[in-house]
Amino acid sequence: MGRKSLYLLILGVLVAYYVYTPPPSDFEDPWKLIWLNAKMKTIIHLANFIELLGLYNFMDFIKILLHVKEVPPISDENITVTDTTFNHIPVRVYVPKKQSKALRRGIFYIHGGGWTFESAASQNNDLLSRWTADRLDAVVVLSNYRLLPKYHFPIQFEDVYNSLKWFLRKEVLAKYGVNPERIGLVGSSSGGNLAAAVVQKILDDPESKFKPKIQSLFYPTLQILDMDTPSHRENSNFPPFRQLTVRLWSEYFSTDRSLEKTILSNQHVPVESSHLLKFVNWSSLLPKRFIKGHVYNNRTYGSSELLKKYPDLLDVRVSPLLADDKKLRSLPQTYIITCQHDIFRDDGLMYVTRLQNAGVSVTHNHIENGIHGLLSLSGLKITHKMKNQYLSWLRENL
Ligand SMILES: *[C@@H]1O[C@H](CO)[C@@H](O)[C@H](O)[C@H]1NC(C)=O
Ligand SMILES: *[C@@H]1O[C@H](CO)[C@@H](O)[C@H](O)[C@H]1NC(C)=O
Ligand SMILES: *[C@@H]1O[C@H](CO)[C@@H](O)[C@H](O)[C@H]1NC(C)=O
Repeated sequence: MGRKSLYLLILGVLVAYYVYTPPPSDFEDPWKLIWLNAKMKTIIHLANFIELLGLYNFMDFIKILLHVKEVPPISDENITVTDTTFNHIPVRVYVPKKQSKALRRGIFYIHGGGWTFESAASQNNDLLSRWTADRLDAVVVLSNYRLLPKYHFPIQFEDVYNSLKWFLRKEVLAKYGVNPERIGLVGSSSGGNLAAAVVQKILDDPESKFKPKIQSLFYPTLQILDMDTPSHRENSNFPPFRQLTVRLWSEYFSTDRSLEKTILSNQHVPVESSHLLKFVNWSSLLPKRFIKGHVYNNRTYGSSELLKKYPDLLDVRVSPLLADDKKLRSLPQTYIITCQHDIFRDDGLMYVTRLQNAGVSVTHNHIENGIHGLLSLSGLKITHKMKNQYLSWLRENL
């Protein structure tokens, strides 16, 4: 072996060591996860470096490297797919071709991707919407919303809200042959955050006569107040990674990097807002088995100046877990998927507890060997099973 190849080998081993994370022992396809982890970690490190050099914005650079594949609206033998706008918001609509005597169910789907990396044209979202429309014989609306890093909260919330409100209008539902009594609101990850927030608000909106009958949230992120939950501690090294997660949360409000540091150190809640912590208190809201050896640390409170600068930080539309019990009691029947090896696991678990305490009917599917974004991973048995469980729940409850 020449000296050059020896150096290359050493470099290779170092890089592999740096990006390697041992997968959970129960994960179905460990190599897939090792590869995904290594890819994501490399992309994040590279993006950090490129940003440090001042060459490119971290978020824009990740967007390019991740290269989430987009597809045009192509109809197939069963489903007609069209791009249109609802209240100026671009949406993609999936309508079954088969004649139907009865009005159909309607699904309004809000995609994930950290408010940044995906759109209604992303292949994973297209596949899931097409599949749902076909198998459930439902009209599926896949809504866009304006993305980070260019647009910040509340733009994302408002885009989704406005497009949902448009869909819920009598004429629009009639046009697509949708039964106003059978509408479901579905979202995954950051889209689950938007779905949960939007459904809380639309219930009180007198302009919107029709309300969703159910909500389904797939591994949603539901609160920004506590970045030190057991699932944050345990899964910081699995996608979407703690570093990226906190950056995205911070970018949701501002491009100011000092906010990110404050959130990362969990010092972004000022003492005068400490009463809100009970809504996200994992020590009381998580089932015991998820707390295990974790200790609920006393907080270091943040400055009031921070809240003055970023008043949206503690907005209920940002953290749907901040809704009080009275609000939660009015929510529709709910289906929540959480994954064990997911940084957002405890957000979902706490919402399950709080909704159940408020008397809402909740079906909770906890995937013991699951990671965040499972629905977008193809070829896994567990993904297949999870999709079918979701589908049967919709058939029964919507
Ligand atoms: C269309 O529906 C038929 C009958 O359910 C099914 O066998 C076929 O795979 C579907 N086509 C697509 C593209 O999903
Ligand atoms: C969180 O819950 C624990 C256990 O129920 C309790 O002792 C603690 O005071 C709570 N803390 C906050 C901030 O609500
Ligand atoms: C938190 O503060 C309380 C009261 O100040 C104290 O009794 C408790 O030991 C502290 N807990 C931890 C984990 O530091």
